[in-house]
Amino acid sequence: MKVAVIGSNMIDLVTTIDRMPRLGETLEAPAFGMGFGGKGANQAVALAKLGCEVLMVTKVGDDLFGRSVLENFKNLGMDTRYVEPVPGASNGVAPIFVDRDANNSILIVKGANNALKPADVDRAAEDLRKCRMIILQLEIDLATVYHAIDWGERNGIPVILNPAPAAALDFAYVRRTAFFVPNETELELITGMPVTSPEEARQAARSLVRDGVGNVIVTLGGKGSLWVTAGREELVPPCIVRPVDTTGAGDAFIGSFTYYYLRLGDVLTAMTLANRYAALSTTRPGTQTSFVTREEFERTDF
Ligand code: RIB
Repeated sequence: MKVAVIGSNMIDLVTTIDRMPRLGETLEAPAFGMGFGGKGANQAVALAKLGCEVLMVTKVGDDLFGRSVLENFKNLGMDTRYVEPVPGASNGVAPIFVDRDANNSILIVKGANNALKPADVDRAAEDLRKCRMIILQLEIDLATVYHAIDWGERNGIPVILNPAPAAALDFAYVRRTAFFVPNETELELITGMPVTSPEEARQAARSLVRDGVGNVIVTLGGKGSLWVTAGREELVPPCIVRPVDTTGAGDAFIGSFTYYYLRLGDVLTAMTLANRYAALSTTRPGTQTSFVTREEFERTDF
């Protein structure tokens, strides 16, 4: 079973903070760490750690970061034939601030990710055709995302779109995805409706379904996840843990949801397992470092 991720990669620069500095203020922060990140790469790594074959389509920087990202993908056994360095470009980086309550604020500098173009999707076409699913996010050129959705539809490969970070989207493309998976903030920005509770998430997701989106899955963090279609609405309860760092939990959800959905063929079971996998990732610091292997996951009892 092979899945393609067409998307971003970043080096995460994670600072633990007591609070954000005010404008003009210098503030000491307790800790700093670096790690592999980027929404596309994170989702791909979750899949790979669960034992799925992964075709990664991304652009890395012509620098030390870019080389280490490629090395990391190779170490995880991914198909990296379409992980390409961009001459003269810096790798994508993400300065991240994690507070004492495990919440995060993230800046992204896309760098080489900006160079992933529709032509790169076409060049990978022969290999994409062998994949069961294509996963997309919004840390790359929107034209590339739309082209991949279009390509997936024309070639019968279902697409999961994670609209992160949120952007104004052309629904002519969103309607053609198999699953549309925003978090609460993204859903709020995309629909223009308030999303502060599961009930509000349900209302906003319904508006997307009325607009023609087939399957909306909303990740609700500590409140679980919600699946809304024209004929069905299911709130999957959260898995209660004590989080230390929630960075990448949404990516852990999407990677593991895809893996278990393809393996077991059932959306609700896949969401239940993805809630658990994502919750477990929040109990460990870092992004990809907090994602466990299938063996670790299936033997963890919590
Ligand atoms: O979703 C978490 C990710 O967002 C981080 O790894 C960071 O790189 C940004 O892309």
